Amino acid sequence: MANKKYQGKSTEAIHAGETLPIFPTEGQKEQAGKTGIPLLPPIHQNSTFQFHNTEECASAFIDEDSGYVYTRWGNPTQEILERKLAVLERGETALAAASGMGAISTALLTALAEGGHVVAMETLYSATYNLLNDDLTQFGIETTFVDATDPNKVESAIRPDTKVIYLESPTNPLLKLVDINACTEIAKTHNITSIIDNTFATPCSQQPITLGIDVVLHSMTKYLSGNGAVVAGAIIGEKAFIERAKKGALRNFGAVISPFNAWLTLLGIPTLPLRFARHCENAMRIATFLEAHPAVAWVRYPGLPSHPQYDLAKRQMNRFGGMITVELKDGRAAGEKFVNQLEICSLAVSLGDVRTLVCHPASTTHSHVPTEVRQKTGITDGLVRFSIGLEDVEDIIVDIEQALNTLPK
Ligand SMILES: Cc1ncc(COP(=O)(O)O)c(C=O)c1O
Repeated sequence: MANKKYQGKSTEAIHAGETLPIFPTEGQKEQAGKTGIPLLPPIHQNSTFQFHNTEECASAFIDEDSGYVYTRWGNPTQEILERKLAVLERGETALAAASGMGAISTALLTALAEGGHVVAMETLYSATYNLLNDDLTQFGIETTFVDATDPNKVESAIRPDTKVIYLESPTNPLLKLVDINACTEIAKTHNITSIIDNTFATPCSQQPITLGIDVVLHSMTKYLSGNGAVVAGAIIGEKAFIERAKKGALRNFGAVISPFNAWLTLLGIPTLPLRFARHCENAMRIATFLEAHPAVAWVRYPGLPSHPQYDLAKRQMNRFGGMITVELKDGRAAGEKFVNQLEICSLAVSLGDVRTLVCHPASTTHSHVPTEVRQKTGITDGLVRFSIGLEDVEDIIVDIEQALNTLPK
């Protein structure tokens, strides 16, 4: 829970969940004996915990809050991170997982423990789409994919056995938005759990729980850790849901975060607000530059008035993020040539890194997908996705411009 007195994003990102008593934390209790508390959260790089006697050990099994038993059940470093995440996303509590997909699968398996039906946004991150469309069908879970940019389509797809509405906003790679408030109203009316992947927006742009969402997910591999060194995920929500996830799907399917990765993520989050502000400033400048370049057919960026949902973006997002998608005029040849010409921007998947990352889905991540399927889902041949980094914006523009200038106009 947030501290009523200190609610600045940077203050929270730095102090929440750590040792200062101003945030609701048990952190200080972890320190035994001597005075002097480590300023950085300590890393507890161990798989198991020891007890003085069987009585003590037995009570830790019965009341898990009274002690640590085994790192797959819980670890102090994981828990510091989880306290911080809960504050940042305004959730009651949180759970850290081994990857974004670990968090997504754990959340879905928890919400759908007794089976049921999902209404999901049609343009989801590809592995999430595959999980819903293939893997979860083995457990009798069915998904209807809809264009959730229209909340009426979400409502129309609801069936008596619908348990989950699953959303992303902005989406990958076309940066479409969903009206989070409208979709959560529908979920509440039908008594359905609403889940959103907030990886692209981060809590610096939107805090979906304040808009009525039940469960927020993150790939912390991206902006939250920000260092490109970690694969990690998070689930934030109500205590009852997170407890069920922790004691069930997380523990038994085993997508548990390692203490080292939890610690590396804890080193990243304090700079998230500063980094995200710079990602957004750089992205706005670059989106404006791209829109004026003759080799570019169109640009999608939620902060540009040309974005089809610009009004919703202004209403729902504090900041417009660091992701930009463009269509190059000369299609596939232009996409391939462009990424090959880049000098300081890196050809790489992933996003939210300090470095600017660029990918051309048609020749790389989506090259195995038949052209007509790609076109239908909007992954056109000339589509290029940018994750704008923290380099000096003028230098990023110089690099992009020199690569664009080699293309037909
Ligand atoms: C929006 C989104 N959600 C989830 C994931 C999966 O995260 P991870 O790679 O940490 O499992 C990704 C990965 O790119 C993503 O872009």
